[in-house]
Amino acid sequence: MIRSDIDHDAAIEAAVEQLDLDAKTSLLAGRDVWSLPALPQVGLRSIVMSDGPVGVRGVRWAGDDPSVALPSPTALAATWDPDLAERAGRLLAQEARRKGVDVLLAPTVNLHRSPLGGRHFECYSEDPYLTGVIGTGFVRGVQEGGVAATVKHFVANDAETDRFTVDNAVAARPLRELYLAPFEAIVRDARPWAIMAAYNSVNGTTMTEHRELVGGVLRGEWGFDGCVVSDWLAARSTEGALRGGLDIAMPGPVTVYGAQLADAVRAGRVDEADVDDAVRRVLRLAARVGALAAVPPAVPADRLPAPIDGRALAREIACRGVVLVRNAELDGRPALPLDAAGLRHVAVLGRAAIDARILGGGSATVYPEQVVSPLDGLTAALPDTTVTFAVGADPSDEMGEAGAGFALRAVVRDAAGETIGTYPLPNGSITWLGEVPEGVTYDALHSVEIAGTFTPRDSGEHAFGTKGLGEHELVVDGTVLFAGTQEFSGDQLEGFFAPPVERGRVALSAGTPVEVSLTYTPVKSAEIPLPVVVFGLAHSEPERDPGDMIDEAVAAAAEAEAAIVVVATTERVESEGFDRTDLELPGRQNELVARVAAVNPRTIVVVNAGSPVAMPWRDDVAAVLLGWFPGQEAGAALADVLLGHQEPGGRLPTTWPATLADAPVTEVTPVEGVLPYSEGVFIGYRAWDRGDNAPAYPFGHGTGYTTWEYDSISGDANTVTVRLRNTGDRHGREIVQIYLTPGDDSVPRPRRWLAGFAPVEAAAGASVDISIPLPLRAFEIWDETSNAWTTIPGEYRIDAARSFTDSRVAMHVTVG
Ligand code: BGC
Repeated sequence: MIRSDIDHDAAIEAAVEQLDLDAKTSLLAGRDVWSLPALPQVGLRSIVMSDGPVGVRGVRWAGDDPSVALPSPTALAATWDPDLAERAGRLLAQEARRKGVDVLLAPTVNLHRSPLGGRHFECYSEDPYLTGVIGTGFVRGVQEGGVAATVKHFVANDAETDRFTVDNAVAARPLRELYLAPFEAIVRDARPWAIMAAYNSVNGTTMTEHRELVGGVLRGEWGFDGCVVSDWLAARSTEGALRGGLDIAMPGPVTVYGAQLADAVRAGRVDEADVDDAVRRVLRLAARVGALAAVPPAVPADRLPAPIDGRALAREIACRGVVLVRNAELDGRPALPLDAAGLRHVAVLGRAAIDARILGGGSATVYPEQVVSPLDGLTAALPDTTVTFAVGADPSDEMGEAGAGFALRAVVRDAAGETIGTYPLPNGSITWLGEVPEGVTYDALHSVEIAGTFTPRDSGEHAFGTKGLGEHELVVDGTVLFAGTQEFSGDQLEGFFAPPVERGRVALSAGTPVEVSLTYTPVKSAEIPLPVVVFGLAHSEPERDPGDMIDEAVAAAAEAEAAIVVVATTERVESEGFDRTDLELPGRQNELVARVAAVNPRTIVVVNAGSPVAMPWRDDVAAVLLGWFPGQEAGAALADVLLGHQEPGGRLPTTWPATLADAPVTEVTPVEGVLPYSEGVFIGYRAWDRGDNAPAYPFGHGTGYTTWEYDSISGDANTVTVRLRNTGDRHGREIVQIYLTPGDDSVPRPRRWLAGFAPVEAAAGASVDISIPLPLRAFEIWDETSNAWTTIPGEYRIDAARSFTDSRVAMHVTVG
């Protein structure tokens, strides 16, 4: 127990004593979408929560209060650097404090069980050890900044299909060895102040009511002393949730707790002592974040970490996370880094080079103040080079939100049609969630109109559409394009994540403004217990012939000394609330790369995706960089790496399949509500290693700009020491990976697994020794008979490797 916790206990007890039942139960329910109520009678101010893993959005879902956008969690894991993860956490704590946020809803430590998982970009890895180490660093950083981390989603929320109802059937061994393992490591090593209970069920019980896993494993076995908060709308029943150990039901104001919980106590259906326990845990959270006046926060103001430059950190993580998976020799030397001095003409190609895909969709979304696109970054870094750009292929056939050329306002009207408020809009999107703008009330609000003008840049057929559920009327230049209702069908948060729908096309002339108007009437019902006005005006420019676009890019590539093609997934492919159905790059991006590579031998492909995509051209291009979703400094970091100012520092945190058919686990759709994890402990490299297919790139793969010799490995089952030498001609950084291979195969186990790793750096020609501790857990399995961890004795081979399949030196140990 940290010292400040001891101080807290008396104050917490005094507060519990003082609060009546209604006050106590109100504290366990969201006051609104993002906060808990204040209870001034005990000196408690409201606790504010916010997503998420790449930045801190704050309490409004809009760009008017921008946030630093770091690279996606997959990129952070690709750094294999827990210290960098810790700095990312500190930056987000700093952002949280700036925005008045006490509880950060991150990190996401579910596993890359299948490459189809829709929120793959938001999780770290297919490996529980790497996930646990990176998650530990991140949580430490957040909490050193005095902000609570919320490790999510507990547990087995590894896919999105039917996430509110799916029952994941997971045997005890994979549950312990894989899915619980990162949570366990983080609870042990970083002592998080909160954990989020997932939407899904595990083995028949929904996670917001899972006594066995929450009360038994998390609190009982692991000694977790923080708060368990529900995922948004995940709490199902008053009694079940309280008995299951759920402390906070979010969002509010109408939840299964609050008044319903007070009633349940009064009716004798739940025990007030259980309510008191939950209240104690919320008060402890409050005390830690400094929301309880009687006690100092866990991190007093004078012990907060030094301020961090968010842009610089975003750029550093993006460089460290980018994985160079291919760097072929051209004219006797590797294609990368490019030599800026000798480069007269570069072609930069692909929609994602100009409209950078910097983050995944859904609740992880934040709105940065500025984004450096790949084209911006390269143009700035190559002042003496001619940089030509062509779109080549557009991965999205989806409409965008009304932006450039639109001048819009929101007009709020009452039921009589009278205007009760007018507000400027930066774009055609409205997300009023839990609150409506100042000056109007949700009760009085009957309809909202997005109104204004659009001045086209280009002449031609412009498409207009609507985004959101419910009743809309869309009028452009005097023509009604749509008047009707968009029905709700699937995920409860569909209104947020569903794509826009095209409602019609209008021929417009460049430079001539037209009037546009979209009126929306929100559905108000008892089932939607908070203000929700979420809709938008969508637009797309006149379409160009896709064949002409590719031809134009190929012509540009043919004239250039190097062609840099940026390909990406779209928000329709990787987001929240659904899974992928294939690994294909959307649109004609594969064709673009293949045709560019045919005319330019120095074709460098940059992939911006949060999860693996098929790359049928990968052996036909000079270099391939996997940049993940690189955050707001995307282009600056890309230029740093391509021009060799920084090494590409990343190693694959997940095996990269060549095709979906090769991937070992592809089932993410439940059958009759149940998704069996029938592969047991064999996911990721653990599964690839026993199948016949080779992946495109193995777990741990990636290379920098220097070369390494591994000279020796020594040590024992507790710690190994590896000596390696930088044999190249520049300073370098390497990730030394340690894998265990058991000699004894009497227990069904993976053939080998990651047991440790460490980043090292060395100057050109220098040797370095690195000691890497091996956790005891690496030699254990979860024994389903005794329900306990059991060491498997025998001989183990220990490899120091550059990737899962690239061992450099090995030794043997015997475990007794
Ligand atoms: C997501 C959580 C997120 C919450 C609040 C949910 O839909 O699953 O990860 O923290 O929304 O935005």
